[in-house]
Amino acid sequence: MKSVLPSAAAVLPFLHGAYAFWRMNCAVIQTGRVDPVVNPGAVAAHAHSIVGGSNIGVNSTYATMVNSSCTSCELRADKSAYWTPLLYYNYPNGSFFEVPHGGSVVYYLARGPNETGIQPFQPGFMMLSGNKAARSYDNETVTWGNAAYPGRPIADRVSFACLVGSGPEPPNQPYIFNATSCVNGLRGQIVFQACWDGINLYKSDNSHVAYLSGIDNGICPPGYEHQLPILFIETNYAVSQVPDAVDDSRFVFSQGDPTGFGFHGDFINGWEMDVQTEAVNTCLYNGAPDGVVQECPVLNSVDTNGYAQNCPEQPPQIGEPVHGLIERLPGCINITYGPEAAPAASMECPSTVAQPSITPTPDSTPLPTASPTPGAQFGLPEQQYLGCYNDTASSGYYRTLNSLAYVNYTVMTVEFCQQYCMDNGYILSGVEYAQECHCDNEINPTTIAAANGTVNECTWNCGGTLTANGVQEFCGGLGYIDVYRNTNSSFDAFGDNTNTAGNAQPYTPAGGFGSNYLGCYSDTPGQPRTLTGPNTAFNNMTIDVCATFCQQGPGYQYYGLEYATQCYCGNDIAPTGLFLTPTTNPTNDTCQMRCRGSEPEVCGGPGALSLYNNTLYVPPVEVPHVGKYGAQACITDPNTNGRPLQGNFTASADMTVEKCIKFCLGSYYHYAGVEYAEECYCGNEIVESSGGVLVPCNATNGMLCAGNDEEYCGGSGFMNLYYSESL
Ligand SMILES: *[C@@H]1O[C@H](CO)[C@@H](O)[C@H](O)[C@H]1NC(C)=O
Ligand SMILES: *[C@@H]1O[C@H](CO)[C@@H](O)[C@H](O)[C@H]1NC(C)=O
Ligand SMILES: *[C@@H]1O[C@H](CO)[C@@H](O)[C@H](O)[C@H]1NC(C)=O
Ligand SMILES: *[C@@H]1O[C@H](CO)[C@@H](O)[C@H](O)[C@H]1NC(C)=O
Ligand SMILES: *[C@@H]1O[C@H](CO)[C@@H](O)[C@H](O)[C@H]1NC(C)=O
Ligand SMILES: *[C@@H]1O[C@H](CO)[C@@H](O)[C@H](O)[C@H]1NC(C)=O
Ligand SMILES: *[C@@H]1O[C@H](CO)[C@@H](O)[C@H](O)[C@H]1NC(C)=O
Ligand SMILES: *[C@@H]1O[C@H](CO)[C@@H](O)[C@H](O)[C@H]1NC(C)=O
Ligand SMILES: *[C@@H]1O[C@H](CO)[C@@H](O)[C@H](O)[C@H]1NC(C)=O
Ligand SMILES: *[C@@H]1O[C@H](CO)[C@@H](O)[C@H](O)[C@H]1NC(C)=O
Ligand SMILES: *[C@@H]1O[C@H](CO)[C@@H](O)[C@H](O)[C@H]1NC(C)=O
Ligand SMILES: *[C@@H]1O[C@H](CO)[C@@H](O)[C@H](O)[C@H]1NC(C)=O
Repeated sequence: MKSVLPSAAAVLPFLHGAYAFWRMNCAVIQTGRVDPVVNPGAVAAHAHSIVGGSNIGVNSTYATMVNSSCTSCELRADKSAYWTPLLYYNYPNGSFFEVPHGGSVVYYLARGPNETGIQPFQPGFMMLSGNKAARSYDNETVTWGNAAYPGRPIADRVSFACLVGSGPEPPNQPYIFNATSCVNGLRGQIVFQACWDGINLYKSDNSHVAYLSGIDNGICPPGYEHQLPILFIETNYAVSQVPDAVDDSRFVFSQGDPTGFGFHGDFINGWEMDVQTEAVNTCLYNGAPDGVVQECPVLNSVDTNGYAQNCPEQPPQIGEPVHGLIERLPGCINITYGPEAAPAASMECPSTVAQPSITPTPDSTPLPTASPTPGAQFGLPEQQYLGCYNDTASSGYYRTLNSLAYVNYTVMTVEFCQQYCMDNGYILSGVEYAQECHCDNEINPTTIAAANGTVNECTWNCGGTLTANGVQEFCGGLGYIDVYRNTNSSFDAFGDNTNTAGNAQPYTPAGGFGSNYLGCYSDTPGQPRTLTGPNTAFNNMTIDVCATFCQQGPGYQYYGLEYATQCYCGNDIAPTGLFLTPTTNPTNDTCQMRCRGSEPEVCGGPGALSLYNNTLYVPPVEVPHVGKYGAQACITDPNTNGRPLQGNFTASADMTVEKCIKFCLGSYYHYAGVEYAEECYCGNEIVESSGGVLVPCNATNGMLCAGNDEEYCGGSGFMNLYYSESL
C-alpha cells in the first residue's frame, strides 16, 4: 500500500477567514520512536511519523536540522521537522496495522489584532502542542482572554476531519469519529502555541509558549507578547486503506489513545533563517489567500518539485517494527480508554521483547538531489547560459543588465525572457527574483559571479509554468540574476552586425553624453509630455537621428530620447519634466536604455528622457518691419463676429510676413495681419465689433510662418499685425 500525498486542494475547515498564510505539503521522512523535543538523546515512549528535514534523530538540534541534506516538505529552505503520532488499527487478534500516512500539510498563519508584528521562529526553537495523556475533552482549561478576546478551551487545539468523499463533510470533532466512513482519510489536526515569551527557545513544560486566546486567532497573554506564526499541522491517515477495518473503536494512536483527545504535534525549527524571516515578513501578509507558496516570491524560490522522491523516508533510527502489521504497539504501549488521563508509560517492554537497535543520529552529509541545469534543461536552443551574477545594484549603481526590463510573475520563464529580449533587439537576457526579465547587449563590468552555495543565489523558481518537459526552471534570486546570451551569429540585434554580447563595457556611453546634454528628465505617463513638439520613433534611433529629426522644419530648442527608440522635440521643457539626476551620480537616473540604433549610446528609459539642448537652433523672430509696414502688437481674432481686418484675405502654404504685406499693399490696405501660420488678412481699420483686442505678442503661442520657419505668423486665434500710414 503506497502512501499518498494530500491533494493541494485539501480544505482548511478548522481555520477560517480571509487571512494570508502559506502551507506546504510534506511526506514522511522517518517513522519510529524519535522525539528530540520530549526525549532528547533517548528512545521516545511512543512512535511518531515525522515529516521534514532528513537529519531528524534523537539528538537533533537546530544545527543538525538546518544541515539536513534534504527535506520531505516542499520548501527546501525549511529543514524543520514536524511530527504527529502514528495511527494503528487494532485487530481483534491483538495485532496492529499501521494506518498508511497520507501526508502532512503544514500551515503558517498570521491571525489576530497583532498579526502584523509576527516574529520568525528562532534557531533552536522547539515546542509541543497537545497532551498525549488526554482521553477526554477538557472544557475547564481555557486560554487566557479578555472581554474582547475571550478564552477558549485549549482542548480545541486538536480536531479531526472525516473526509467522506462525497456529500457534505461532517463537522470536525476533537476526537476520532466514524473513521471507517472516512473514505478519503481521517485528518488529525493540531494548532500550536503562537505566543512566545521571547526568551526561552524551549522549556520541557512548554511554558515558553502559550496559545492565542482563540487558539487559531486572538491575542497573546501577558508575558507572551512575542507573536509567532500560528503553526497548524494536518496529518492525513488513510483509514480506508486498512484491510478489514470495520470497527471505528479499534483505531488507536501510538501513544495508546483510541479516542484522539491525546493527539499532539511537535516542531523543531530547521529553517534557513533569512528565508523564514522574509517569508514571515512578506508571505504572511501579502501571500495568496489560498496559501499557495508559488505565489509568494521568497517561498516560490525555494519550492522544490519532487521533494518526496528526492527526499524519501529515511531508514529508521530506532530498529523496531513500526510499519505494516505488527504484534504490539512500539514501546509496548498499553491502550488506555480514559476518560481519565493515561498514566505515564513505563518505558519498559517485557524481557521477551528484544531491545531496539539505535542507529547514530544522521550526520549532515548531503545526498545528491535532482537539480535542473540552466542552459541544458531549459532555455531556447542557441541560448548560452553565462552564469549566475550579482545584481545588487543599489542607489548610485547600475544593474547587471540595464537596457530594458519587464516584470510579470505569471508569465516569467527563461524562454519568455529570452524571447522578450530578442524581440526587443537584445542579445543578453537575464531572469531574476522569480519574476523579472532584464535585457541588454553588455554586462555591467562591476558584475561578479555568484559565490557557489550562496543561499538564495540563482535558485528561485520561475513564476511561470513549468516547461513542456516538466522541468522547474530557475529565475535568479534575490539580488542574483541568471544571464543568457543569444549565440546565434545571424541574430542581428540592431541591424548593424554587432553581436557584441559578453564584451563588458562601462555603462557610460562610449562617446560620453555631449556637452549639450542636459540630463535625464522625467516624462511621466499620464502627465503632459515634457517636450510637446513633434515626436517620432525609429528602430535606428540614435542621438544624432533624433537631433536631425528635431532640426527639420522650424527646428526646436530641445530634443530628447526615450525608451530606446523614441524622439521628442520641443521649445520648452514642460514643468512636468523633472530633472532626475546628474549623470555623474545616477542615483535615480532612469535613463538607462541603450539606443536601438547604437548600443553604446543611451536613449532614455521608461518614462525618462535623455534631454539635449539644440545648440544649432536659431529661434524665430517677429519680423519688425517690411518696407514701410511696421510690426504692431498682436490682435486677438475671436472670429465670432467677423475678423478684425475685413478687407481682402488670402491663405497659402508658403505664407510669410513679406508675402502678406505685399498682398495687402497690392490692394492698398494700411493693415496686414498674419494668422495661424498661413492666413493673411488686410484692412484699413480694426473693426471693433469683431471683438479683437490688442495684446502683447507671446512667442510661446506663436506659430511659425508656413513659408518661413524663422518668422512668426500669428497663432491660433490671433494675428501679428503690421501697419503703414502711407501707401
Ligand atoms: C464542562 O462540562 C461539564 C459536563 O458537561 C459541565 O457540567 C461543566 O459545567 C462544564 N464546564 C464548563 C466550564 O463549561
Ligand atoms: C457518525 O455517523 C453516524 C451515522 O452516519 C452519524 O449519525 C453521526 O452523527 C456521525 N458522527 C459524527 C461525530 O459525525
Ligand atoms: C500587541 O502586541 C503588543 C506588544 O507587541 C502588546 O503590548 C499588546 O498587548 C498586544 N495586543 C494584543 C491585543 O495582543
Ligand atoms: C502495560 O500494562 C502492563 C500491565 O499493567 C504493565 O506491566 C506495563 O508496564 C505497561 N506497559 C507500559 C509501556 O506502560
Ligand atoms: C546522542 O548524543 C549523545 C551525546 O553526544 C551520544 O552519546 C549518543 O550516542 C547520541 N545518540 C545517537 C543515537 O546518535
Ligand atoms: C556586484 O557586487 C560587487 C561587489 O559587492 C559590487 O561592487 C557591484 O556593484 C555589484 N554589481 C552589481 C551589478 O550589482
Ligand atoms: C502578466 O501577463 C498575463 C498574461 O499575459 C496578463 O494577463 C497579466 O495581466 C500580466 N500581469 C501584469 C501585472 O502585467
Ligand atoms: C561554481 O562552481 C562551478 C562548478 O564547480 C565552477 O565552474 C564555478 O567557477 C564556480 N563559481 C564560483 C564563483 O566559484
Ligand atoms: C532611420 O529610419 C527611418 C525610418 O525607417 C529612415 O527614414 C531614416 O533614413 C533612417 N535614418 C538613418 C540615419 O538610418
Ligand atoms: C532623485 O533622488 C533625489 C535624492 O536622491 C530625490 O530627492 C528625488 O526625489 C529623486 N527624484 C525622483 C524623480 O525620483
Ligand atoms: C539651451 O541653450 C540656449 C541657447 O544656448 C540657452 O539659452 C538655454 O538656457 C539652454 N537651456 C537650458 C535648459 O540650459
Ligand atoms: C480685393 O477685394 C476687392 C473687393 O472685394 C476685389 O475686387 C479684389 O479683386 C480683391 N483683390 C484681390 C487681390 O483679391
